[in-house]
Amino acid sequence: MRKLVLWGHNVQEYKEMFDLSEQDLSGRILEFGCGPSAINASLTGTAKEVVSCDDMFAMDKQELRGHVDQVFDSMLAQVKKYEGLFQWDDYGNLDGFVHYRSQGIEKFFDDYEQGLEQKRYIHSDGLVLPYDDFHFDIALSSHYLFANIEGQDVEFHIQAIRELSRVAKEVRIFPLIDRDDHVSQFLGPVMLGLQQDNLGLEVRQVPYHLQAKGNAMLRVWAHECVVE
Ligand SMILES: C[S@@+](CC[C@H](N)C(=O)[O-])C[C@H]1O[C@@H](n2cnc3c(N)ncnc32)[C@H](O)[C@@H]1O
Repeated sequence: MRKLVLWGHNVQEYKEMFDLSEQDLSGRILEFGCGPSAINASLTGTAKEVVSCDDMFAMDKQELRGHVDQVFDSMLAQVKKYEGLFQWDDYGNLDGFVHYRSQGIEKFFDDYEQGLEQKRYIHSDGLVLPYDDFHFDIALSSHYLFANIEGQDVEFHIQAIRELSRVAKEVRIFPLIDRDDHVSQFLGPVMLGLQQDNLGLEVRQVPYHLQAKGNAMLRVWAHECVVE
């Protein structure tokens, strides 16, 4: 089964995917590899700061709109093929899900140009983020790492998560399954590498359950633990 990526996530979904509290949602938030999600548009004004970082945010609104519409349509065709494998209860059915995510995408595009000007949407390769150490309270990334995306090996994961945990006090990554619905083969080696970097780690079950096995996230945080 291919991975479900339809973008357009909303705050309620992030709360369940990343087990976020109201306090988490009011701090300085970085979302990474987020695509056109509604998070920045929804939380700007209530959170202290929200920055959304994606490779695609080098595009202007018109170019990005064309790209997103094209990918959304082709992904939707795939999802329809495997409709029975998803748990649609929170959305009613597939149509309800598509409607919900489409609204999220519209919200993103209504905000995109202003957000670019305000540097709330930024383009970055992810391995060097232009922020001071621990600038953000929390960094969130969904369906980007552990997704068996071409070119992402164990070392790439370790470098990307190390950089996220440099700029944020805590990193949360969801889900931990790959494109074929199996726990990512990278999870063990990446966790070992991060532990060797003296990062704290926890795999935690979360309420979001669109995919039966996609109900866990990885938390990572930098902490002082000097063993003498
Ligand atoms: C599989 S999609 C997931 C999007 C979204 N988080 C979701 O859950 O629907 C991966 C996203 O990562 C972005 N991406 C790919 N390489 C990137 C990089 N080096 N730095 C930042 N974002 C990247 C892509 O543009 C895309 O939006």
